Amino acid sequence: MAQALLQTRGASKHFMGLKAVDDVSLAVHKGEVVSIIGPNGAGKTTYFNLLTGQLSPTFGEVSFRGKTINELPPHERAKLGMGRTFQIVKPLIALSALENVMVGAFLQHARMADARDHAMAVLNRVGLGAHAKRRAGDLTLSERRRLEVARALALGPEIVLLDEVMAGLNQSETGRCIDLLRSLHQEEGLTFLIIEHNLKVVRAFSERVIVLDRGRLIAEGTADDILSSPEVVKAYLGEGHQWTPS
Ligand SMILES: Nc1ncnc2c1ncn2[C@@H]1O[C@H](COP(=O)(O)OP(=O)(O)O)[C@@H](O)[C@H]1O
Ligand SMILES: [Mg+2]
Repeated sequence: MAQALLQTRGASKHFMGLKAVDDVSLAVHKGEVVSIIGPNGAGKTTYFNLLTGQLSPTFGEVSFRGKTINELPPHERAKLGMGRTFQIVKPLIALSALENVMVGAFLQHARMADARDHAMAVLNRVGLGAHAKRRAGDLTLSERRRLEVARALALGPEIVLLDEVMAGLNQSETGRCIDLLRSLHQEEGLTFLIIEHNLKVVRAFSERVIVLDRGRLIAEGTADDILSSPEVVKAYLGEGHQWTPS
């Protein structure tokens, strides 16, 4: 198989005695959409932090296009082609939507005018062009989530990591967000690794699903297979529950 874009081998993160991420090996290839699911506290966000460099692994290796990146800080990984959103949305609320995106655009463009043009193009791409001058703090939740996606896109990534980017959105907002991600995948060939609780989103958007539970990768397969697996049901709901994925 072709070289993985982003890969971990035996990645682990221990916090004192807690194995938040425990020996996770995973390879994401260019053009894939992979979802990570699992109960709260399973280690999903911690795993993202190992990938993007907010945390360094206690054991194991993180590599990008076959090259170890364990020692690289987050901004160097961003330059290689990794964009991400954070579960706790932290836009710079006093800045405009455009200025928020320009922060990422400066990684690619040294000149202010170029960064502004690039940021504006990204805002248009995510459907926020008309809101460029509004303060980020005045945007709705759904708009702020799009702004987060725009900030990740402004880095010019090959792979985008989304941490529960649809949490709290209503059904129609979720549908529009899936449409946006799908078009970025299909038209711009972006690779996605997403953490998502909404199993309808997982089923609608991802080709491959990974299940984390207590830090360990307990299952991996197609969305259909995974969402009907008894082990997954147990991890999500505890034993004795019926599960009818729809
Ligand atoms: N910086 C930290 N220090 C100590 N424990 C942490 C830290 N970050 C996360 N944890 C713990 O690691 C476990 C996994 O957390 P997290 O990765 O946020 O899970 P998830 O995103 O799957 O809900 C949890 O038990 C959490 O309390
Ligand atoms: Mg999390």
